[in-house]
Amino acid sequence: MKALVLSGGSGTRLRPLSHTMPKQLVPIANKPVLAYGLEAIRDAGITEVGIVVGDRMEDIREIVGDGERYGIKVTYIPQAAPLGLAHAVVIAREFLGGDDFLMYLGDNVVLEGIDELVGRFRAAPCDAQITVHPADPREGGLAVLDAGGRVVAVEEKPKNPTSNLALMGIYVFTPVIHEAVRSIPPSARGELEITDAIGWLIEKGYDVRGHHYQGFWRDAGMIDSLLECNQAVLDHAGPRILGKVDEDTEVIGRVVVEEGATVTRSRLVGPLVVGAEAIVDGSYLGPYTSVGEQCVIEDAAVEYSIVMDRAVIRDVRGIHGSLIGRATTVRTATSVRAGHRLVLGEHSQIVLS
Ligand code: TTP
Repeated sequence: MKALVLSGGSGTRLRPLSHTMPKQLVPIANKPVLAYGLEAIRDAGITEVGIVVGDRMEDIREIVGDGERYGIKVTYIPQAAPLGLAHAVVIAREFLGGDDFLMYLGDNVVLEGIDELVGRFRAAPCDAQITVHPADPREGGLAVLDAGGRVVAVEEKPKNPTSNLALMGIYVFTPVIHEAVRSIPPSARGELEITDAIGWLIEKGYDVRGHHYQGFWRDAGMIDSLLECNQAVLDHAGPRILGKVDEDTEVIGRVVVEEGATVTRSRLVGPLVVGAEAIVDGSYLGPYTSVGEQCVIEDAAVEYSIVMDRAVIRDVRGIHGSLIGRATTVRTATSVRAGHRLVLGEHSQIVLS
């Protein structure tokens, strides 16, 4: 079995971060979203992986390379434009050949692995297997299963959901999917939808099965779900102190301080991670905070947030539920001038209280 990982897309729900980095590389506990998927695929025993990439191919290649560091062999499949999940299958035809394959949306994060769903397909082969989870299906897709686990309907972004089963971005397909993706027309939003291809299989009488995923799952293409992923991963991280923490710093709970980081005169209340070569001084870092590499946090208070590499936070307290992009500066004014000075890129969000 091969794997097809979708790592293109436009990432509109993650602007402005997605203007400068592919959303699949946003860090969760200082590791890119995409790495969680690639590791789960490897752990399920699949090593031949095609990654569909858009205009951010080079950023992804820089991190993933030939896949050796994740124990997989990667083939990049460029997609000229984000024309839909089923379109990604169309352009991967040559890579996939006549093999069964796992299709994995690169912004999906599962923390309990995918061995069970791959094992289930291997033990009880069917024409296609989808993965479902009890959740609000309005953001993604909905599935309706009969009592025997057979899928009787799927629907993309339903306005009035008829079930509480959300479609996860993890599917197992046999080569019949190739006929399906070639037979469907583009949807109203101009994309070739994988739900339409699955609907086509159901209509033609193919055996489509649903697997209930029991563990933690999020579509990490949105700000709130990224923070929830960060929380879930940090709950199991560390404790591990490899960097320097001085005597005037109080450390409580599961705290990771990576190699080369320096923490002075601060209060660290885990679970949290301070990345390599970061500097934290005179600050409070609270639960569920990830501080990236080479960040500088001085006289600040941050909790339940993701602070990416090389960001600087100075003299600002009360940062909560925030995503702070790479090399961003947040600080208070040094002179006594009225008002806030904001230099913000397109689609930025600032919430002042
Ligand atoms: P989505 O999150 O459904 O789409 P998107 O990336 O365009 O995001 P948004 O809705 O916020 O604009 O995509 C799911 C995954 O599939 C994600 O990892 C991106 C990837 N993808 C492709 O590789 N090619 C495509 O044509 C599309 C639509 C998505």
